[in-house]
Amino acid sequence: MKVMCWIRNLKYQIALLVLLSLCSCSTALHLKPASHMIHESTRKQQQQIAPPSPVELPSRPTNQPIVGSFISKIDVNHLAIWLKNLTLFPDRYYQSQNGVRAAQWIENAIQSLPVPSDAKLTTKLVHHRDILQPSVIARYESKIPTTLKGIVITGSHFDTYAKNSPQGVGGPNPAADDCASGSAAVFEALRVLTTNGFIPGRPIEFHWYAGEEEGLYGSLDIANTYAAKGIEVLSYLNLDQSGYVKPGTRPEVGIYTDYTTSAATKFLSSIVSTYSGLPQVGSQVCGYACTDNASWFLAGYNTAMAFESQDGNSFPHNDEVHSDGSPLDTLNLINMTHVSAFAKITTGFVVELSLTNTSSKEK
Ligand SMILES: *[C@@H]1O[C@H](CO)[C@@H](O)[C@H](O)[C@H]1NC(C)=O
Ligand SMILES: *[C@@H]1O[C@H](CO)[C@@H](O)[C@H](O)[C@H]1NC(C)=O
Ligand SMILES: *[C@@H]1O[C@H](CO)[C@@H](O)[C@H](O)[C@H]1NC(C)=O
Ligand SMILES: *[C@@H]1O[C@H](CO)[C@@H](O)[C@H](O)[C@H]1NC(C)=O
Repeated sequence: MKVMCWIRNLKYQIALLVLLSLCSCSTALHLKPASHMIHESTRKQQQQIAPPSPVELPSRPTNQPIVGSFISKIDVNHLAIWLKNLTLFPDRYYQSQNGVRAAQWIENAIQSLPVPSDAKLTTKLVHHRDILQPSVIARYESKIPTTLKGIVITGSHFDTYAKNSPQGVGGPNPAADDCASGSAAVFEALRVLTTNGFIPGRPIEFHWYAGEEEGLYGSLDIANTYAAKGIEVLSYLNLDQSGYVKPGTRPEVGIYTDYTTSAATKFLSSIVSTYSGLPQVGSQVCGYACTDNASWFLAGYNTAMAFESQDGNSFPHNDEVHSDGSPLDTLNLINMTHVSAFAKITTGFVVELSLTNTSSKEK
């Protein structure tokens, strides 16, 4: 997510604006058709999508001893090495071979994780129409049958933006904060769970999206595919920038409330209070579909979004050195402890929803 993405994702914004001017949409329900319009405008058309019914979410955590035991295993050093490794690709642009290699590297990292014998970890690269870079999906599930329905998903994008080259080959960009940081927090959550023997109730999916910067390519494709297949998702948790603490400001978690559902946002808020050790600032808004949580929201799913700060304190620019002297998005500006707080939030969110015994509101 960037300050610039309004301009960058112009096609996407236009679709949204057209939609908003056609109807005065104020609820999630009314916004649903946006997924069709946006999808049709950004890619070739796909068939009409019937989003699954909303699912009831718990209002607060109920598995604190279990979650706490995994959160205590989150390892800042491991997370920092993984994050750094991801920034070593010269770029992770959606139309470059480096962007493809980064996806393969993430998949290999997942495949090298130890997995308990009662669980199964599978990965796949998801290829998208029109772009070179695939998204990466890891699915972690129990081998023991369960009556719990649906799945839980968390994700972040791992691609990078390249100035002046929306269709070009990309340019150097470590994109440490945007979004190696969110990618690393998602990976660390997966790592502590498989490495320390967590057996999911519901399956948990961990997603790393391609092509976010240029129009949410990966997440739109995947969210719309899941909706078209009627896959029941309790909630999606999006991470974007997760590692910058503006000098002189209080470290905190920003909770976004547009393009998210209130049940998921309320639940996320209680997860942040219980597990992150950081204060939170609610009611943050982007004003447009600026990151991957929007894809899941527009496809009709519960979504929530945790961000590195309140809006005004996030990383100033990330693609280049600007004329105002703002820095490139490099590793040295990342606060690894801050990123690990987002790994805690992600772990809490997915473990709680994997285990909670809630019944879905059937159609
Ligand atoms: C990071 O890269 C180094 C050097 O290639 C490698 O030895 C290490 O295993 C990698 N670590 C992780 C966590 O990916
Ligand atoms: C998603 O991200 C955007 C960008 O941060 C934010 O404004 C919005 O509130 C978040 N929620 C969703 C579901 O899009
Ligand atoms: C890094 O982040 C942690 C957790 O948010 C915070 O406690 C610490 O003060 C931050 N350090 C700096 C230098 O901002
Ligand atoms: C969930 O709750 C129902 C009703 O209380 C119960 O019958 C079922 O066994 C529970 N499922 C699990 C996996 O705990």
